[in-house]
Amino acid sequence: MNKNIVACLGDSITFGHGVSASRERDAWTFVLQRMLGEDCKVLNFGINGASASEGCPESYRASGLLDRALSCGADTYILMLGTNDTKERIWNAQRYKMGMRGIISDILRNTGRGGLAPKLFLMLPPAVFPMEDGRTAYDVSAALLTDQVVPLVKKLAEEYSLPIIDLYTATKDHPEYYVEGVHPNAAGNLAIAQQVYADIAEWLSTFKEGPQNMTDYKTLTMSVKAVTAECPHFIANLANTAALIREHMDGINWAGFYLIQDGKLVLGPFQGKMACTEIEIGSGVCGTAVAQGKTQLVPNVHEFSGHIACDSASNSEIVVPLRKDGKIFGVLDIDSPSFGRFTEEDRDHLEYLAGILEQNLFKE
Ligand code: SME
Repeated sequence: MNKNIVACLGDSITFGHGVSASRERDAWTFVLQRMLGEDCKVLNFGINGASASEGCPESYRASGLLDRALSCGADTYILMLGTNDTKERIWNAQRYKMGMRGIISDILRNTGRGGLAPKLFLMLPPAVFPMEDGRTAYDVSAALLTDQVVPLVKKLAEEYSLPIIDLYTATKDHPEYYVEGVHPNAAGNLAIAQQVYADIAEWLSTFKEGPQNMTDYKTLTMSVKAVTAECPHFIANLANTAALIREHMDGINWAGFYLIQDGKLVLGPFQGKMACTEIEIGSGVCGTAVAQGKTQLVPNVHEFSGHIACDSASNSEIVVPLRKDGKIFGVLDIDSPSFGRFTEEDRDHLEYLAGILEQNLFKE
């Protein structure tokens, strides 16, 4: 199963410096992992001392973690930088803004599943408190954080239309959440994890419930085009197309072809569990697609009268007719164990794919 990856980018607060002795239990990214459960993978890309400011030696970009985070395949990114930028020798509002803009743009350009931009949440950093002697640990400036960083992150969120996770408000009345006024302790990390969970849970649930486009159609169609254009063999081309669909579509358990022979649909190349070998025109989802001459998008196969169950795990299905010179010669059939797996968008893409096959299967 494809896990939803949540990449958390930030400084020592994200790394878990305040709870380093029990980091895997208490750092907020690990707490969040337990709250989200096994369907999600929370990755910690926090590094001590990192700032956003462009050109600064401790910049997050220079650490190399940005590149690693960009290549982790996450659908969800959480970015929190700013606390270290308030150090006197680093602070420069312009450079902070530029640095944040650069990181934000890199993340938003980093298309993931289905060619969609990832969801990026900006975090307002937790408040900072002075120690007993009145100084602030690590030369971090509580005033700059409150008066500059927090409003700037809000402005950036507006500029890019990004959601905010407000750790500032969640912590500003809680000096007891900290080790030395800058790094959250276990209680502070728990409060952060709870705030993050509250703000991202709804977004993450869209992966589980509603139908999602979970296919890299750009790669899929380009691959099918390239592979079938080169190869003159009809069956080999169908076999490779089934393999490519299986490779590039998430959440499916069967993908393959039925081809019309002697007035019936006969099983062709496929990927998945063994399937029924003959289907009458007009029966099942496949036979209906042929009889009606149009794609069948079935969100719940158990409600489709006449559905033929091959793999008992299947709950939704899409069947696209394949044509040669306008005449149907077979169907592409894809099954999923999830209800409502296939959308109108899938139909559009798969009908386009059928068009590519039509062009490339019947070369002289
Ligand atoms: N469910 C199909 C039969 C083929 S299997 O899904 C592979 C149908 O009702 O036509």
